[in-house]
Amino acid sequence: MSDSAPTAKRDGFTSSFGVLAATLGSAVGLGNIWKVPYMTGANGGAGFLLVYLLATLLIALPVMMAEIAMGREAKANPITALQRLAPRGLPWWLIGAFGMLAAFLIMSFYSEVVAWVFAYIVKAIDGSILSSDPAVTGAAFGQLISDPLQSLLWQWFVLVFIGGILLLGVAKGIEAVTKKLMPLLFVLLLVLCAVSLSLDKAAEGLRFLFQPDFSKLSASVVLMAMGLAFFKLSIGMGTMMTYGSYFRDEQNIPATTVRVMTADLFISMLAGIAIFPAVFTFGFEPAAGPSLVFITIPAVFAQIPMGHLLMVLFFVLTAVAATGAMLSLLEVPVAIIHERFGLTRRKATLISLLILALAGSTCALTNSTLAEFKLFGMTMFDLFDFLSSNLLLPLGGILICLFAGWVWGEERLLQALSNRGTLANQRLVGILFLLLRFVTPALILVVMLKGLALF
Ligand code: PHE
Repeated sequence: MSDSAPTAKRDGFTSSFGVLAATLGSAVGLGNIWKVPYMTGANGGAGFLLVYLLATLLIALPVMMAEIAMGREAKANPITALQRLAPRGLPWWLIGAFGMLAAFLIMSFYSEVVAWVFAYIVKAIDGSILSSDPAVTGAAFGQLISDPLQSLLWQWFVLVFIGGILLLGVAKGIEAVTKKLMPLLFVLLLVLCAVSLSLDKAAEGLRFLFQPDFSKLSASVVLMAMGLAFFKLSIGMGTMMTYGSYFRDEQNIPATTVRVMTADLFISMLAGIAIFPAVFTFGFEPAAGPSLVFITIPAVFAQIPMGHLLMVLFFVLTAVAATGAMLSLLEVPVAIIHERFGLTRRKATLISLLILALAGSTCALTNSTLAEFKLFGMTMFDLFDFLSSNLLLPLGGILICLFAGWVWGEERLLQALSNRGTLANQRLVGILFLLLRFVTPALILVVMLKGLALF
């Protein structure tokens, strides 16, 4: 147990594969399983994918590289990191403080969706959601989310589970767990893809997912794709800075981020291939978000040979994906409280969990006790989602770009990303620097303003 004082040797990732698994574990999450496949299908298939890819390359990747580089240079949590890297004067450390706030807000609602996933593993095993009638599976979902006790208990279970892994430390907790979970995720996805592709209407599902339809592209779809790229790679809130601080000195940051981005995209595509052929074969609508995963999917599995087992696998897979993302979210406040306030890692974890249990309960009870409790016309679940995605993440992203591009500067960025000149990637870093200075912050600003205008 690493209950070490902050002054002891700092915990960190110990192997190249460990770095990759943990970072990929953060990027891969609930987003891949329902958000990307659905958005791709609903917004013109391959056309949307192309825009999403561009947004990932122009927005997400530069910010991700900068965040990780800054974290590794400072070898500290996001608040301390910015205090160390920034010249005295301007409060750049606020990026870290906003990041911690964003982490709590995201975790508050994210943990509730993960709670439903864990509850569904049990429901899948006992067969209570095994019905080919969406009215039955829909009623089961409604019953779960409108039961305050079940909602809270499952959320606390998730929090204790994630907190328990974090208590083991960075290397023995995050790294060890994600190293096992990421390969498992791939295997489970491949099994589900194979089954889905063997179904009658597989081609129709694939067409829905991959046939380019540029007529559906509009300004708002382009902006949606950019926002998705942003959220998908866990950037703009210090998650990647925190993980960067655990990166090994010899790790090739640009290569690692490109690998993570590629693998994350690949997992999203596999999820789409696993989901849509099956959905089409049984004549369901490719509906959005929660209803696709929690209502349609069970009804689909009920009609597939070995569907009972495969449904259990599907929800285990989703839980696996969400676990890596939750670990990285919770690690942000844990690292900050542990290092900044000199508390042990155990105390920092407990304090973070307590704050979360309180803040998260407002989201857990959104469909029951607190259904009528609204601020700015939104339930806490929607408000936290809105505040983090549309305000804090983009703001953090812009500030990280501005800091890296205008304050930290090209020479230090180059030193950090070329591992002190031992990697031959000078030209690449030069391009990255220009993106960070001008292109990326301007693009993010557009996304943010549009997000606020939509409100
Ligand atoms: N990238 C994660 C997903 O797709 C979500 C996440 C956002 C994780 C921000 C950490 C930080 O589900």
